[in-house]
Amino acid sequence: MSKSSVNRRAFIAGSAAAGAAMSLPAASYAKIKAANEKLRVGFLGVGGRCQQHIGVILQMQKEGKAVAPAAVCDVWDGEVKKGVIQGRGLYPSAEKCKLDKTDKNHVSKDYRTILEQKDVDLVCIATPDHWHARMAIDAMNAGKDVYMEKPMTKTIAEAIAVVDTAQKTNKVVTVGVQSMADPTWLAAHEYVAAGNIGKVMQGQTSYFRNSSVGQWRYYPLTKDMSPKTIDWDMWLGHKFQSVDGAPLGPTPQEQAFDRAIWAQWRCYWPFGGGMYTDLFVHQTTHMIAAMGLRFPARVVGAGGLYLEYDGRDVPDVATVVADYDEGCQFIVGATMCNDVQFGEMIRGHLATIKFDGGGDFIKGFSVYGQNIAGGPAKPKSNNGEDKPVHVFENPKKGDATYALWENFLECVRTRNRTTLSTPELGAAAFATVNMGVQSYRYGKALFWDKEKRAPKEADASWASQWEARSKKRGKPNQVQGWKAGEKGSLLEPPVYQKLEGPWVNGKDPAGE
Ligand SMILES: NC(=O)c1ccc[n+]([C@@H]2O[C@H](COP(=O)([O-])OP(=O)(O)OC[C@H]3O[C@@H](n4cnc5c(N)ncnc54)[C@H](O)[C@@H]3O)[C@@H](O)[C@H]2O)c1
Repeated sequence: MSKSSVNRRAFIAGSAAAGAAMSLPAASYAKIKAANEKLRVGFLGVGGRCQQHIGVILQMQKEGKAVAPAAVCDVWDGEVKKGVIQGRGLYPSAEKCKLDKTDKNHVSKDYRTILEQKDVDLVCIATPDHWHARMAIDAMNAGKDVYMEKPMTKTIAEAIAVVDTAQKTNKVVTVGVQSMADPTWLAAHEYVAAGNIGKVMQGQTSYFRNSSVGQWRYYPLTKDMSPKTIDWDMWLGHKFQSVDGAPLGPTPQEQAFDRAIWAQWRCYWPFGGGMYTDLFVHQTTHMIAAMGLRFPARVVGAGGLYLEYDGRDVPDVATVVADYDEGCQFIVGATMCNDVQFGEMIRGHLATIKFDGGGDFIKGFSVYGQNIAGGPAKPKSNNGEDKPVHVFENPKKGDATYALWENFLECVRTRNRTTLSTPELGAAAFATVNMGVQSYRYGKALFWDKEKRAPKEADASWASQWEARSKKRGKPNQVQGWKAGEKGSLLEPPVYQKLEGPWVNGKDPAGE
């Protein structure tokens, strides 16, 4: 039986468990690794991003930590060497990891060969997005723990299947949103949940950048990228199935080899989700963690392709607006043609949290009070520049990717599935941004169907439910983890409001 059919069966069996969160008896859990027992890493997709992952593992090895590169996989032979070992691709990465380039079990163009190796404990997946789920699920079913790059998967069904497989196989998975190693987001969540900013109303973030050549066209094309050096069939993935049975990618007849597709795949829908999934997923993950949200209830994606007319599919201006059953909203927006940010903040009824500084480890956050005696004036120019009422300074500095790896490896050793960036959180963030893609592409607002764990088309019921709640003088919903009762969550109706009410048969409802 071919590798492909064996693994396809395992893959489908893995995803069939979707929905039933199963746990195995303690005896069948993988054995806890001693602190000095070496964890051996297989790298799948050793392109640009993976060079940082290899760098982290080599750095840890240099520091005497019990971890080592054990295998590399890529469908590309690799960059022609420029004198220093830093090239991307299979053979340069093997060299960098000090692996024997002729050892076909550990230096391979076929990831299934790497998954068969008993001396590979965990894999790092850094291929383009359309391969993430397939590799992650196959890896878990082959007994490996998984560090998987963001965006977690290409489709929502795949993200759900990764969560279910991780639960079923009890494998440790971390989603490579390295900002989750920054303690600022958890500190903000604790601050929010304690009621300090009152009812949480809205969060906002952005990912603005600018590029003279067009976003992602800055990944250079070189002559040595050719069908001779790249297994195009395997890169496309058309012989492999996703969780719904669809091929991972187009056939070579549908998509002939093209260096631009290969190196700049983010520009094309079959392989990525544009800035919605490539970039927004970073901020969406840490912002929903801070706000106390997970899956959205309703998502609208907006945007357009307004300047970058260079043959790409994906828009250069994009916005996602997500609304939540918890009674609040999250907005993420960007253009790839201007680099001024919206700023990251959480707006509550009593105060606003402003996050300070960009990057993976930010400076922390400052909290600014509110003037809630606002009358019918023009919006005042409150940019939150007053004296903060509270400041959190992030104690962590350095490389966030290193920090996320440190946490992941510790979780692998102790068999703790609660990494700093769990697949459960990752799937919620990914669903949000992917619903943004679908809304933008298909011109629809979408609801999240909690039972089916899938999006469906939205209707007017979202707006109606809030109006009904207002008429019934209902109480606001609160974000997850809320510990503050009604703090900052109730209006103080003016005394004259007692005079309201319909005049039935000419009778004043407020009495004579
Ligand atoms: N966390 C971050 O900050 C961050 C930064 C950059 C990229 N990423 C993510 O990392 C992933 C890779 O991005 P990149 O910029 O390195 O892309 P890339 O194109 O430079 O590298 C991907 C590599 O995967 C290889 N590949 C493709 N299909 C394969 C297969 N079936 N088997 C083995 N190898 C295969 C390609 O040949 C290529 O070398 C993406 O999902 C991206 O979103 C994350």
